[in-house]
Amino acid sequence: MSASHQRSISEPSYRILGLESSCDETSAAVVENGKLILSNVVASQATLHAQFGGVFPEVASRQHLLAFPWVIEQALKEAHLDLANVDAIAVTRGPGLPGSLVVGVNFAKGLAMIGGKPLIGVHHLEAHLYSIELSGDGGTGSQMSFPAIGLIVSGGHTELVLIQDHLRYTPLGATLDDAAGEAFDKVARLLNLPYPGGPSIQAVSSNGNPQAFSFPRAWLEGTWNFSFSGLKTAVLREVKKLQRYRSVLPVENLAASFQAAVVDILVGKTLQAAKQFEGRCILVVGGVSANRALREAFLQQSELPVLIPPPHLCTDNAAMTAAIGYYRYAAGQRDELDMDVLANWPLSALSNPLDV
Ligand code: KG4
Ligand code: ZN
Repeated sequence: MSASHQRSISEPSYRILGLESSCDETSAAVVENGKLILSNVVASQATLHAQFGGVFPEVASRQHLLAFPWVIEQALKEAHLDLANVDAIAVTRGPGLPGSLVVGVNFAKGLAMIGGKPLIGVHHLEAHLYSIELSGDGGTGSQMSFPAIGLIVSGGHTELVLIQDHLRYTPLGATLDDAAGEAFDKVARLLNLPYPGGPSIQAVSSNGNPQAFSFPRAWLEGTWNFSFSGLKTAVLREVKKLQRYRSVLPVENLAASFQAAVVDILVGKTLQAAKQFEGRCILVVGGVSANRALREAFLQQSELPVLIPPPHLCTDNAAMTAAIGYYRYAAGQRDELDMDVLANWPLSALSNPLDV
């Protein structure tokens, strides 16, 4: 009997339908056993928000409402499944924009009710961590080895986490002001580059000199915290100074020098933490982990395995929601239909269903 045949007899297979709407992507996905992507449909609102230079919350919630019916239908269709064939519905409960979260949670409740399926509310940052396990659709299918050090870098968060085991975390530090992605978005606006700022800065940086400007690095020694607002202000000051005597800004050099400062801090602090806590691997997840310079720096400088999802699984998607939904479903988590969103849900407040 083949190994795969033995597995299908001895281990149950769970398919989770995940929904994600914490910010400006409307997404639905079906994932098997927390790993294999059967479908992952993402409708991005980025072009809609580009005209405002950032996410406009009311526009985002209205757009989620319009997009979800098609996105969910498409996710089931691409997975060749009906609602009846999925085992549970996982949905991002927080943190995120309250109005956007409410739309996803209500669609999930509707599906749970119609299909008679368990409902599982998941933490968006925990979902980002589990994006490294996804396989199929370009996923790395990586296995975490514990203890692991997780760096979560997105538009709303920059957090360093010690991961002791599946579903067990100790947050080590976080940004004291702007998130790394927020800094990319704000500096892009200063340089008149389009939203979202991360990909725009990455693109122009490839023609720039990262040593052209010496921007400050806030190391915040003795803590695992980060700070990016001083760096952003330093870029602003440099731009104002240059504008006094130059009609054209050296955008490529400014962008590359800013990006190099962010990369130095993120890589430096994460490697220090990995050493101190004797990590066996490093996870780098969230929208900013799509950054090429950051990925290259981690891979060059780390002696430990660095697990980073492919760029399209770094930014928000429901496959990662379904992946963590599987772990929580398997651990016994079930939520009630009166479950509310938690827009400011800290990772430290996450309960472990195995402890209950
Ligand atoms: O994880 P994500 O899709 O949404 C949140 O949960 O916030 O992250 C979005 C953030 C944005 O700030 C965007 O500018 C940044 O990720 N981002 C990048 C890149 N791609 C997206 N930052 C740097 N380089 C990139 N290539
Ligand atoms: Zn995210």
